[in-house]
Amino acid sequence: MQIIITGISRGLGLAMSKSLLQRGHTVVGISRTEKVFDELESLSLQSNNASFIGITADITQEDEWQRIYEIIQGRTTDLHALINNAGILINKPFSQMTADDFDRMFSVNVKAVFFGIRTLSPLMQSGSHILNIASMGGVQGSVKFPGLSLYSASKAAVAVMTEVLAEELRPRGIHVNCIAPGSIKTEMFKEAFPGVEEAFDPEALAEFISDFTEYGFQFFNGKILPISATTP
Ligand SMILES: NC(=O)c1ccc[n+]([C@@H]2O[C@H](COP(=O)([O-])OP(=O)(O)OC[C@H]3O[C@@H](n4cnc5c(N)ncnc54)[C@H](OP(=O)(O)O)[C@@H]3O)[C@@H](O)[C@H]2O)c1
Repeated sequence: MQIIITGISRGLGLAMSKSLLQRGHTVVGISRTEKVFDELESLSLQSNNASFIGITADITQEDEWQRIYEIIQGRTTDLHALINNAGILINKPFSQMTADDFDRMFSVNVKAVFFGIRTLSPLMQSGSHILNIASMGGVQGSVKFPGLSLYSASKAAVAVMTEVLAEELRPRGIHVNCIAPGSIKTEMFKEAFPGVEEAFDPEALAEFISDFTEYGFQFFNGKILPISATTP
């Protein structure tokens, strides 16, 4: 299977790339830097049928998506999944949030998802799917945390975009879903919440997402799946 993942330089994106390569898939990984490309290339050589294509790009820039489209169009024949994973979190009291904070978070967390789906979905066939990575913070009725007003709002935007896009792409047989994880032990979480320990292991969550990407997606469309072991 050929799978595109944004934000692979660290955290969940890196863990998902490793998991899918170890399962023998082609991973097209997008990142602003090349720092993990050699490691993922080496991993792909150790796994039958796996291959890795690394693309450096800032996904908030619309023209970068045209370049990504041209690279992918020339090298992939049957795109199975697009995983919109890249994200940023700025943890600040609402009164201190700036216009720049707003623009940065909404550019990466929402606008880049819009660019990516609009640009790459024409390459997708019936039976393929899009998976957006949102957050429990963006799910209505879940526990909320001070400092995450704009981050959570951006993830809520992606969740609702998922529901609408599932209807737009239904006639083409493309499923669109969203997972909303709670805390994951990645650099993002450690930087935003220093000292907080309770969180999912990114490698374990990556295995769940790989199962979903290979198989589970067929049973869901237009769904926002909470990945949480607590209530609410
Ligand atoms: N960690 C959590 O507790 C948690 C919980 C729920 C949901 N999530 C969501 O899960 C996803 C992955 O989070 P994570 O914890 O793995 O975060 P992370 O460790 O901060 O990694 C984020 C990735 O996004 C990339 N990225 C950021 N801006 C980019 C841009 N403009 N262009 C291209 N790539 C860009 C980063 O690459 P660079 O090297 O280019 O910066 C990095 O690879 C995010 O959408 C996040 O919101 C995380």
